[in-house]
Amino acid sequence: MSFPQALFSTPTPFVRRGLDALARAVDLVMPLNAARRRELPDACRDLSALLTTERDGLERPYWTSPRLTSAYLRYFLPWNLVRLTALLPGLPLTAPATRPSGAEENGTATAGANDEFLIFDLGSGPCTFPLALWLARPDLRRLPVTVVASDSAPHPLDLGRRIFDALRAELDPASPWTLRTLRAPLHAAPRLLRGRPRLITLGNVLNELEERGRRGGSVRGRLAALLDDAARLLAPGGRLLAVEPGTRQGGRLTATLRDMALGCALRNDEDDEDRDGAENDWFEPAGGSGALRFRLLAPCSHSGPCPMSARGVTAWCHVNAPAEAAPTALTELSRAAGLAKESVSLAFLLLERLNDNAPLSARPADAPFRTGTPARLTARLISDAFVLPGAPGRARYACTEQGLALIPDAAFLPPGALCEATSTPRVDAKSGARIMTLPGREAAAPARTPSRDGASPRPAGQGRASGRPGERLRAAPAGRADKKRSTSKRTRKR
Ligand SMILES: C[S@@+](CC[C@H](N)C(=O)[O-])C[C@H]1O[C@@H](n2cnc3c(N)ncnc32)[C@H](O)[C@@H]1O
Repeated sequence: MSFPQALFSTPTPFVRRGLDALARAVDLVMPLNAARRRELPDACRDLSALLTTERDGLERPYWTSPRLTSAYLRYFLPWNLVRLTALLPGLPLTAPATRPSGAEENGTATAGANDEFLIFDLGSGPCTFPLALWLARPDLRRLPVTVVASDSAPHPLDLGRRIFDALRAELDPASPWTLRTLRAPLHAAPRLLRGRPRLITLGNVLNELEERGRRGGSVRGRLAALLDDAARLLAPGGRLLAVEPGTRQGGRLTATLRDMALGCALRNDEDDEDRDGAENDWFEPAGGSGALRFRLLAPCSHSGPCPMSARGVTAWCHVNAPAEAAPTALTELSRAAGLAKESVSLAFLLLERLNDNAPLSARPADAPFRTGTPARLTARLISDAFVLPGAPGRARYACTEQGLALIPDAAFLPPGALCEATSTPRVDAKSGARIMTLPGREAAAPARTPSRDGASPRPAGQGRASGRPGERLRAAPAGRADKKRSTSKRTRKR
């Protein structure tokens, strides 16, 4: 593995054409009269409020309102595609295809190169994830892929299928994809699916599960059921990808899904209804019978407890994708709605279904993440760059197996990149983060730091942080949601 590895990809000409064509496709399937078009920015603002700050209204599904459906197709769908098409090209979504000589001991066989490639999208809305995969993954676009897009609401599925047909007709009529729709709630859809998916996707669904489920069982129960279904459906090597907005809620939900898949300690959040005495509790790994069925592929740099889940840490894991693929018409609509952005923020988790017969020792995936000497670790950048007094350049926070890290002089690396870093004995006093240096930039470590020299590192997932990493982590990246356009200085001092 060579470092650094960028997380986000520059939009290809095909993606750009696709995002331009989307507006035409949406006009085709849901035309707007002049009055509705004038009113569109207001509708976008109302829907944005419903999906972010006024979430009690989610009890009334927005898909029953033509005004809000139109706003979704013209504002949320394209922004979600901008987000996803930046993320998807760089993710290992497909296992190397192998054809085993016979069925494996447990009766399941790894999918072979000629098998149908089945993708199962849950909470698909207007088929956002399938559209993003089709646009951003030419390797899949060429294959005879079958996508089953499921949602409890039939109307957006129908609109999404028609949008897909229009995009394919305009951009790549030879693409051999079959897009089927399945009207079913999340808990029932997996039982109605025929075939074994090689990829299960969820886009912006977990937060609605939490919201709509407040009166009907805990979100953990729903996530556990989701993981059980995924473990049952996916062939070994199959992938589960959940992408949420980069809000605190999105980061917390993907972290909970991660912890549940790996059997890590429960989070201990202020707003966590199960938190009492939870720090020492452990999940039964999802998938039944105590066996670990998943390993982490991204974004995590290790499979230990998530540092963001530690008691007292108010920050959350999320990354900011550049918004450079956004078509001009979309940025203009966003500005008119008062929702202009300069980057898009997301939280995500990519899991791989393990082979049931994999030796237990190989399951926690720490080993592949370690690079070189024990002090040299793989680190995932999780903040924008900010000024660290006493250190050259601008610093960034990163996630490592030693917990939260602070890496000086790291502004040149692309957002969300995976990089190598060397641990130092120092701990930043403000955040409690271990100070680490990039190869060749060891001199960047502050000579006299605002740190507690020699202090032992706080193991990830344990103990209350004495500083407030959330302050800088919140100040530097997107904060509550996508980064709004602002005229304030980019470089922040603490
Ligand atoms: C914010 S939309 C996301 C749509 C699409 N995945 C995207 O990223 O644009 C959430 C979707 O989840 C669906 N949904 C929410 N709860 C659901 C449930 N329990 N079962 C099935 N679908 C659900 C909603 O109908 C809605 O289409």
